[in-house]
Amino acid sequence: MKVMPACTTFFEKNLCHLFPLSLLLKKYYAPIVKREVLLGKINEEDQVLCIGGGALPWTAVEIATQTGATVHVIDSDPYAVKLASKFIRLLKLEGKVNVRFGDGQYVDASGFTVAHIALQAYPQEKILCHLLQSISRNGRVLVRCPKKRMACLYGDCIAPSCLNGKSTKQSCSTMKETLLFTKYT
Ligand SMILES: C[S@@+](CC[C@H](N)C(=O)[O-])C[C@H]1O[C@@H](n2cnc3c(N)ncnc32)[C@H](O)[C@@H]1O
Repeated sequence: MKVMPACTTFFEKNLCHLFPLSLLLKKYYAPIVKREVLLGKINEEDQVLCIGGGALPWTAVEIATQTGATVHVIDSDPYAVKLASKFIRLLKLEGKVNVRFGDGQYVDASGFTVAHIALQAYPQEKILCHLLQSISRNGRVLVRCPKKRMACLYGDCIAPSCLNGKSTKQSCSTMKETLLFTKYT
């Protein structure tokens, strides 16, 4: 695992034991997700799949609460899944946000209309190709990209030049933008 995904994972796994403090992360994720919801036109009828939720799946929580959509999160780390499931119970969002073990490279996305790939999910390119094959027709895939100077601290990330659709700029310290890919066939 590269430096930044390892740091974020470590940070979240420790912070989640301090529930009131972990609520502060909402301030960080809410504006990022707001721009992604607008970009992906996510609404309550969407079935959303998040790849890489970590111990504190704030992206999934924000998508569910901002749009009313049902969100399914997968994570390839069983301990993160256990901690995230407890976090979702504490937020009383069971049924609206579901967390399970899985790898974004192999997940069956056929029942989903939107997928979201975390900045720390890897390998991003392989996950994106797999999702664009398996997601439903007209499905949208959102991918977070790091700032150029930070890219070496993440695994294989999608190059923004691969984009076939729209993107939205992000204004936080590590993330440059979120890209939108749409499956047309
Ligand atoms: C630390 S989290 C950050 C996500 C953040 N909490 C959010 O809500 O956007 C990143 C997670 O991605 C998971 N991950 C990395 N690659 C993955 C893959 N191929 N499939 C599923 N999960 C993956 C890691 O196990 C880690 O828990």
